[in-house]
Amino acid sequence: MAEIIDGKAVAQDIRDGLGNAVKELEEEGITPCLATVLMSDDPAAEKYVSMKQSDCEEVGIATRDPEITAEDSAEDLYNLIEELNNDPEVHGILVQLPLPDHVEEQPVIDQISPQKDVDGFHPENVGKLVIGNPRFKPCTPHGVQMLLDAYDIETEGKDAVVVGRSNIVGKPMANIFIQKADGGNATTTVCHSRTQDLESKVKQADILVAAAGVAEFIDGSMISEDTIVIDVGTNSVERDGERTLVGDVEFESAEQKASAITPVPGGVGPMTRAMLLYNTVKAAALQNDVDVSLPKQ
Ligand code: GUN
Repeated sequence: MAEIIDGKAVAQDIRDGLGNAVKELEEEGITPCLATVLMSDDPAAEKYVSMKQSDCEEVGIATRDPEITAEDSAEDLYNLIEELNNDPEVHGILVQLPLPDHVEEQPVIDQISPQKDVDGFHPENVGKLVIGNPRFKPCTPHGVQMLLDAYDIETEGKDAVVVGRSNIVGKPMANIFIQKADGGNATTTVCHSRTQDLESKVKQADILVAAAGVAEFIDGSMISEDTIVIDVGTNSVERDGERTLVGDVEFESAEQKASAITPVPGGVGPMTRAMLLYNTVKAAALQNDVDVSLPKQ
């Protein structure tokens, strides 16, 4: 039976550590501040953003919640980002994705100041991660790395298999695993929708990261014993007439087989949110040229 990896508890430890880092910044007269930009009426996105704001409040990070709606133009969004880029009191800018259909995503990401890009999605920050000099690691894969570290799960020399190649999770996860650094040095395979014989690749994994966005498509029969299963999926499905959240991994059968597994919810999700706070505190410290003690990595 797998050990359950408790992302909620590890995220709480990280928030506690960040609370201390915020106090160090306060002593220098700096209050870290995150601007959350929500251009959507989607209730799930509204909920994610409001959870991010209350996380900020818990650790002493200020927030801005500028006015923009799903009906506004791309130009309105560019103008807002420019204002936030130029505001010295704002250290981090999070534009919640996805954007409405009439707004193209990449030009918006490109416009965020790389120094304030706490998602780590700007091409400059992507490039810095790839060359081994990360500024802001994207929150979900960074959260996975911190979670593995908290459970003393060694990555060096291990076979890591990432299922999914999104810019938000799959690609940066693979880049983190192949870094010549602590929490990296893994032999990494990236699988995707065109991968042939997915099952044999998944079976090789010492560490499996499921991030394809397909509900419960990996089950216990596809994994080897001793595999560490990290489930990034958050899929809303209907069960017994009610909507419920499931991962990309079928938990009940995988739990029987794996050596450790993250639950959904309560695994990777809380870590993603904690790493957004981490990046915001780091952004505030870098912009003010102040050293603070951040939780490890
Ligand atoms: N939408 C889903 N995940 C994310 C994320 O990590 N950052 C942003 N900005 N939007 C998202």
